[in-house]
Amino acid sequence: MGAKSTAGTAPGALPLLGHTLSLLSDPLSFLTSLPEHGDLVRIRIGPLQAMVVCTPELARQVMLNDRIFDKVGPIFDRARDAFGDGLASCPHSRHRRQRRLVQPAFHPARFPGYAQVMTKHIAEVTESWQHGQILDVVPEMMALTARIAVETMFSDALAPAVLQAVLDDSDTILSGIYIRTVVPPPLDKLLITRNRRFARARVRLREVISGVITDRRTHGADRGDLLSTLLTAGDSSEDQGLSDVEIFDQVMTFFVAGSESTANALAWAVYLLAGHPDVERQLHAEVDAVLGGAAARFEDLPKLELAGRVVLETLRMYPPGWTLPRTAATDTRLGEHFIPAGTILVCSPYLLHRLPDRYPEPDRFDPDRWADGHDALPSREAFIPFAAGARKCIGDTFALTEATLALATLAARWRLQLLPSQHIRPTPSVVLHPRSLRMRAIQRGEWRNEL
Ligand code: HEM
Repeated sequence: MGAKSTAGTAPGALPLLGHTLSLLSDPLSFLTSLPEHGDLVRIRIGPLQAMVVCTPELARQVMLNDRIFDKVGPIFDRARDAFGDGLASCPHSRHRRQRRLVQPAFHPARFPGYAQVMTKHIAEVTESWQHGQILDVVPEMMALTARIAVETMFSDALAPAVLQAVLDDSDTILSGIYIRTVVPPPLDKLLITRNRRFARARVRLREVISGVITDRRTHGADRGDLLSTLLTAGDSSEDQGLSDVEIFDQVMTFFVAGSESTANALAWAVYLLAGHPDVERQLHAEVDAVLGGAAARFEDLPKLELAGRVVLETLRMYPPGWTLPRTAATDTRLGEHFIPAGTILVCSPYLLHRLPDRYPEPDRFDPDRWADGHDALPSREAFIPFAAGARKCIGDTFALTEATLALATLAARWRLQLLPSQHIRPTPSVVLHPRSLRMRAIQRGEWRNEL
């Protein structure tokens, strides 16, 4: 079969602008309309072109072939500018060594310890809410996941005041990274105050982390946290281990890659539950039986079966990493298509997760599709909330553990109610989030009187 030099172009491109307006006004509907036009569809964003991958099979080829479909080119130069050359943003040439050195931090033996930290913070946050309080859900979940990230990384190495400063600085850095990604380079110089705050936060965070690294290198104790594994990585082989700069970049990466996506997944989960009282009731029955009002712990996970399926179905409908770009490092082929070097390819978990031939009634929230014994259990091939292949999320188990424990504890104590006349639309930024999602916290047991 001869290689085609072109993939079809999505309809509706305007002169100069291309598909920019569709991408700005309703990017998700635009994305899900693309498979009608082929398995690989060209879109134009002003002068830039990208190919959107529209079948799970081709997406898999892209994901599994990370040497050719690499994290290089302008998009990744910019990501590296913002948060260094850590595991998520480094190119293939530097990836294998880093992944090998970082992997022990995610060894199954570490999880009971991480889960203890999760349980503690989830209990604290859910206990701090007041009956009837209106919660700004995304920041609330961010505070939770960021706290968990800090403590699982450094354990108790930070005094409470320093911990608060680290959380504030991480927040500044996270929002700064998004602004830097969406504002093109010449214009971001205009964001003077924001840039200064970003730079100051980065310096402060670097100082704090460097202090902890030096202290740990001197005293050499394994505290069971992520930092300990990064510090000892490679010591027992010919590997040189990670330098202090590399450790700092990994710590930043874990913050960025870990806190925001898990927080948004949780926000979407509580939003979906509020709109599906039948599922919510079943979840309440499950957590009442398993937890009896206590906070969920690691050993409860196997019994929190529905909570786990709610998390999976949420990640299907609203995958926080909704687009995963790659750049062809050399001329290559994808399916029947010829791909010249430098082509930007975009795999979209959002698009694939809404394919009706893979997920009947894809817009329906149905955690039962994931139940054992379900007739049409979705194929794992078309489910890529954590990507696939060598660049698959290293924190997938961490995220699923955290989200399931948080959702179960929350459901054991609270019911989050949507405010009347709220219309929530998914807002794509680096992460897909429900903008301005405000919900009323109703203590379980008292909520029936409120309706
Ligand atoms: C629901 C939560 C999460 C989702 C949906 C998610 C999703 C993803 C996705 C899609 C990728 C691949 C990105 C790409 O191919 O361009 C990725 C990579 C990564 N994630 Fe996650 N993630 C989550 C939570 C976490 C957590 C909790 C951590 C850390 C504790 C983490 C650390 C990373 C790292 C380090 C990478 C880069 C892996 C590599 O290239 O080797 N993520 N994540």
